[in-house]
Amino acid sequence: DWTMGAYREEAIAKIREQVGKERVICGLSGGVDSSVAAVLIHEAIGEQLTCVFVDHGLLRMGEAEEVVRLFRDHYNIPLVHVQAQELFLGELEGVSDPEIKRKTIGRLFIDVFDEEAKKIGGAAFLAQGTLYPDVIESVSFTGGPSVTIKSHHNVGGLPERMNMQLVEPLRELFKDEVRVLGKELGLPEAFVGRHPFPGPGLAIRCPGTITAEKLEALRKADAIYLDEIRKAGLYDTIWQAFAVILPVKTVGVMGDGRTYDHVCALRAVTSVDGMTADFYPFDMAFLGRVATRIINEVKGINRVTYDITSKPPGTIEWE
Ligand code: XMP
Repeated sequence: DWTMGAYREEAIAKIREQVGKERVICGLSGGVDSSVAAVLIHEAIGEQLTCVFVDHGLLRMGEAEEVVRLFRDHYNIPLVHVQAQELFLGELEGVSDPEIKRKTIGRLFIDVFDEEAKKIGGAAFLAQGTLYPDVIESVSFTGGPSVTIKSHHNVGGLPERMNMQLVEPLRELFKDEVRVLGKELGLPEAFVGRHPFPGPGLAIRCPGTITAEKLEALRKADAIYLDEIRKAGLYDTIWQAFAVILPVKTVGVMGDGRTYDHVCALRAVTSVDGMTADFYPFDMAFLGRVATRIINEVKGINRVTYDITSKPPGTIEWE
């Protein structure tokens, strides 16, 4: 009979067997998956593990601080915090194709990991929090023809020329199982319950080209939206909620002036594993409240829409 306690022991044994005496770099994204992977691998090999958290300039408001605090204060796991905003945003300048965004980000992540590996005298392995649905969706869409929908950077988006071998201890698990494992490993409840956040971050919530202004407006809108969701007690009912900033400007009126600013789309879905999803049926008063706050508080956005597409035929992210 199968329990998470048994899975944990088995996974630890497998990691030790795969890694031997070699060093491992774990790419932390701040999400549940890579954090659970890091804590699990740390239990397995202790000092052989170095975690690397890359700030690519595509994180949400306050996110870098939260992640660094959790790992430095709660765990005794060595954590390198790489400030790579200029590198990533520079390479992404002018890029609007979603797959090129993912491939660029995947390549830069590997460059950064390689560099950090050198600094610690080399690492033979790179650990990631890849889940079972990531593996499936990067290969083919369930029930559909065998085409790539999105090359999730932590699966299909990795460059061929990588020097390190992958350690992916969560590859057989679904999100709900990773959360159980996270609790089993003693991660704080609130952290384990966090909504998923994609590795390419806000890059794929900014259709079209990515600019500093769009990112700033997006961060603010997203923070307001999540703040209202938390206040309404809906955070744990929803699988994932986020704002998207559109490359479209529309006309509005504010006071006695004309405005011409970006459209913001809000997304919220319920799901069990992220492979299918339903849009969340907020009441209109809630959406009206969020829209008013965003338009009043965020410079650069003058219109808010709500995405009522389920998956399929939509995907959860817009890119
Ligand atoms: P989609 O948009 O494919 O998203 O319906 C399903 C789940 O996967 C996340 N997602 C990603 N995660 N790298 C990631 O690490 C990616 O490139 C990526 N694309 C989508 C998405 O946030 C959702 O939870």
